[in-house]
Amino acid sequence: MRSEDVNISYFDSVTSTNDVLKEMALKGAPSGTVAVAWNQTQGRGRMGRTFHSPNGGLYMSVLLDMDTSLTITAKAAVAVRRAIYEETDRETSIKWVNDLMYKGKKVCGILAEGIGDKIVLGIGINFSIRQKDFPSDLRDIAISLYDGPEKVDSDSVDLVNGIVKNLLGIIDDPSFINDYRRYSCLIGKEVNVIQAGNVTGKGKVVSIDDNCALHVLDEKKGEMVLSTGEVSIRI
Ligand code: BTN
Repeated sequence: MRSEDVNISYFDSVTSTNDVLKEMALKGAPSGTVAVAWNQTQGRGRMGRTFHSPNGGLYMSVLLDMDTSLTITAKAAVAVRRAIYEETDRETSIKWVNDLMYKGKKVCGILAEGIGDKIVLGIGINFSIRQKDFPSDLRDIAISLYDGPEKVDSDSVDLVNGIVKNLLGIIDDPSFINDYRRYSCLIGKEVNVIQAGNVTGKGKVVSIDDNCALHVLDEKKGEMVLSTGEVSIRI
């Protein structure tokens, strides 16, 4: 994606910015097209989950060439983390594979989907949703950068521009892996390994390799190398 190809469209409310961008791609939109919405009625996450998407969040999707990189979602996590820090001063950490955490709760999720020869990279950020307004099942695990509308739309637009700028800077930069490791909230932590919804192992996270795979030293199975799936931190 080149900076001169970036073309950002803003929408008040959509089903899912990933779907809007897929439709645009089918009609010939080029790489660099970006769709942003302030509300999604059918926001979706990884593993078939819904992504809670009320006003106060920032929902955006970026169209990229398919060959961009196998590690694009990890790169996106690093790019979004940098943009959040630059634009809001908030320090977030990266929870493998590509969630961002703030004060121990999830503040951002990333979902990449294919369409033809392109990738739709979807990024959802809880920007200024009041903590008390999260549904009860999310209140303990989700958080916003700001607890309520102390910030306005122009601040979100600054964040959109910051994310695009940092994505452009990271796509061809293999050194992203240094920040991916440095800001991981998992290294050294005891975790449950979850695959297809089931706990398949337990152990300590020992490292993240250059392919962004997570190495977990399992109590019974020895070292597990995880390329997909998720983990939960054991408290
Ligand atoms: C996850 O946490 O599992 C990934 C969440 C991805 C949410 C974003 S919001 C913009 C884009 N549109 C969607 O419907 N999903 C992604």
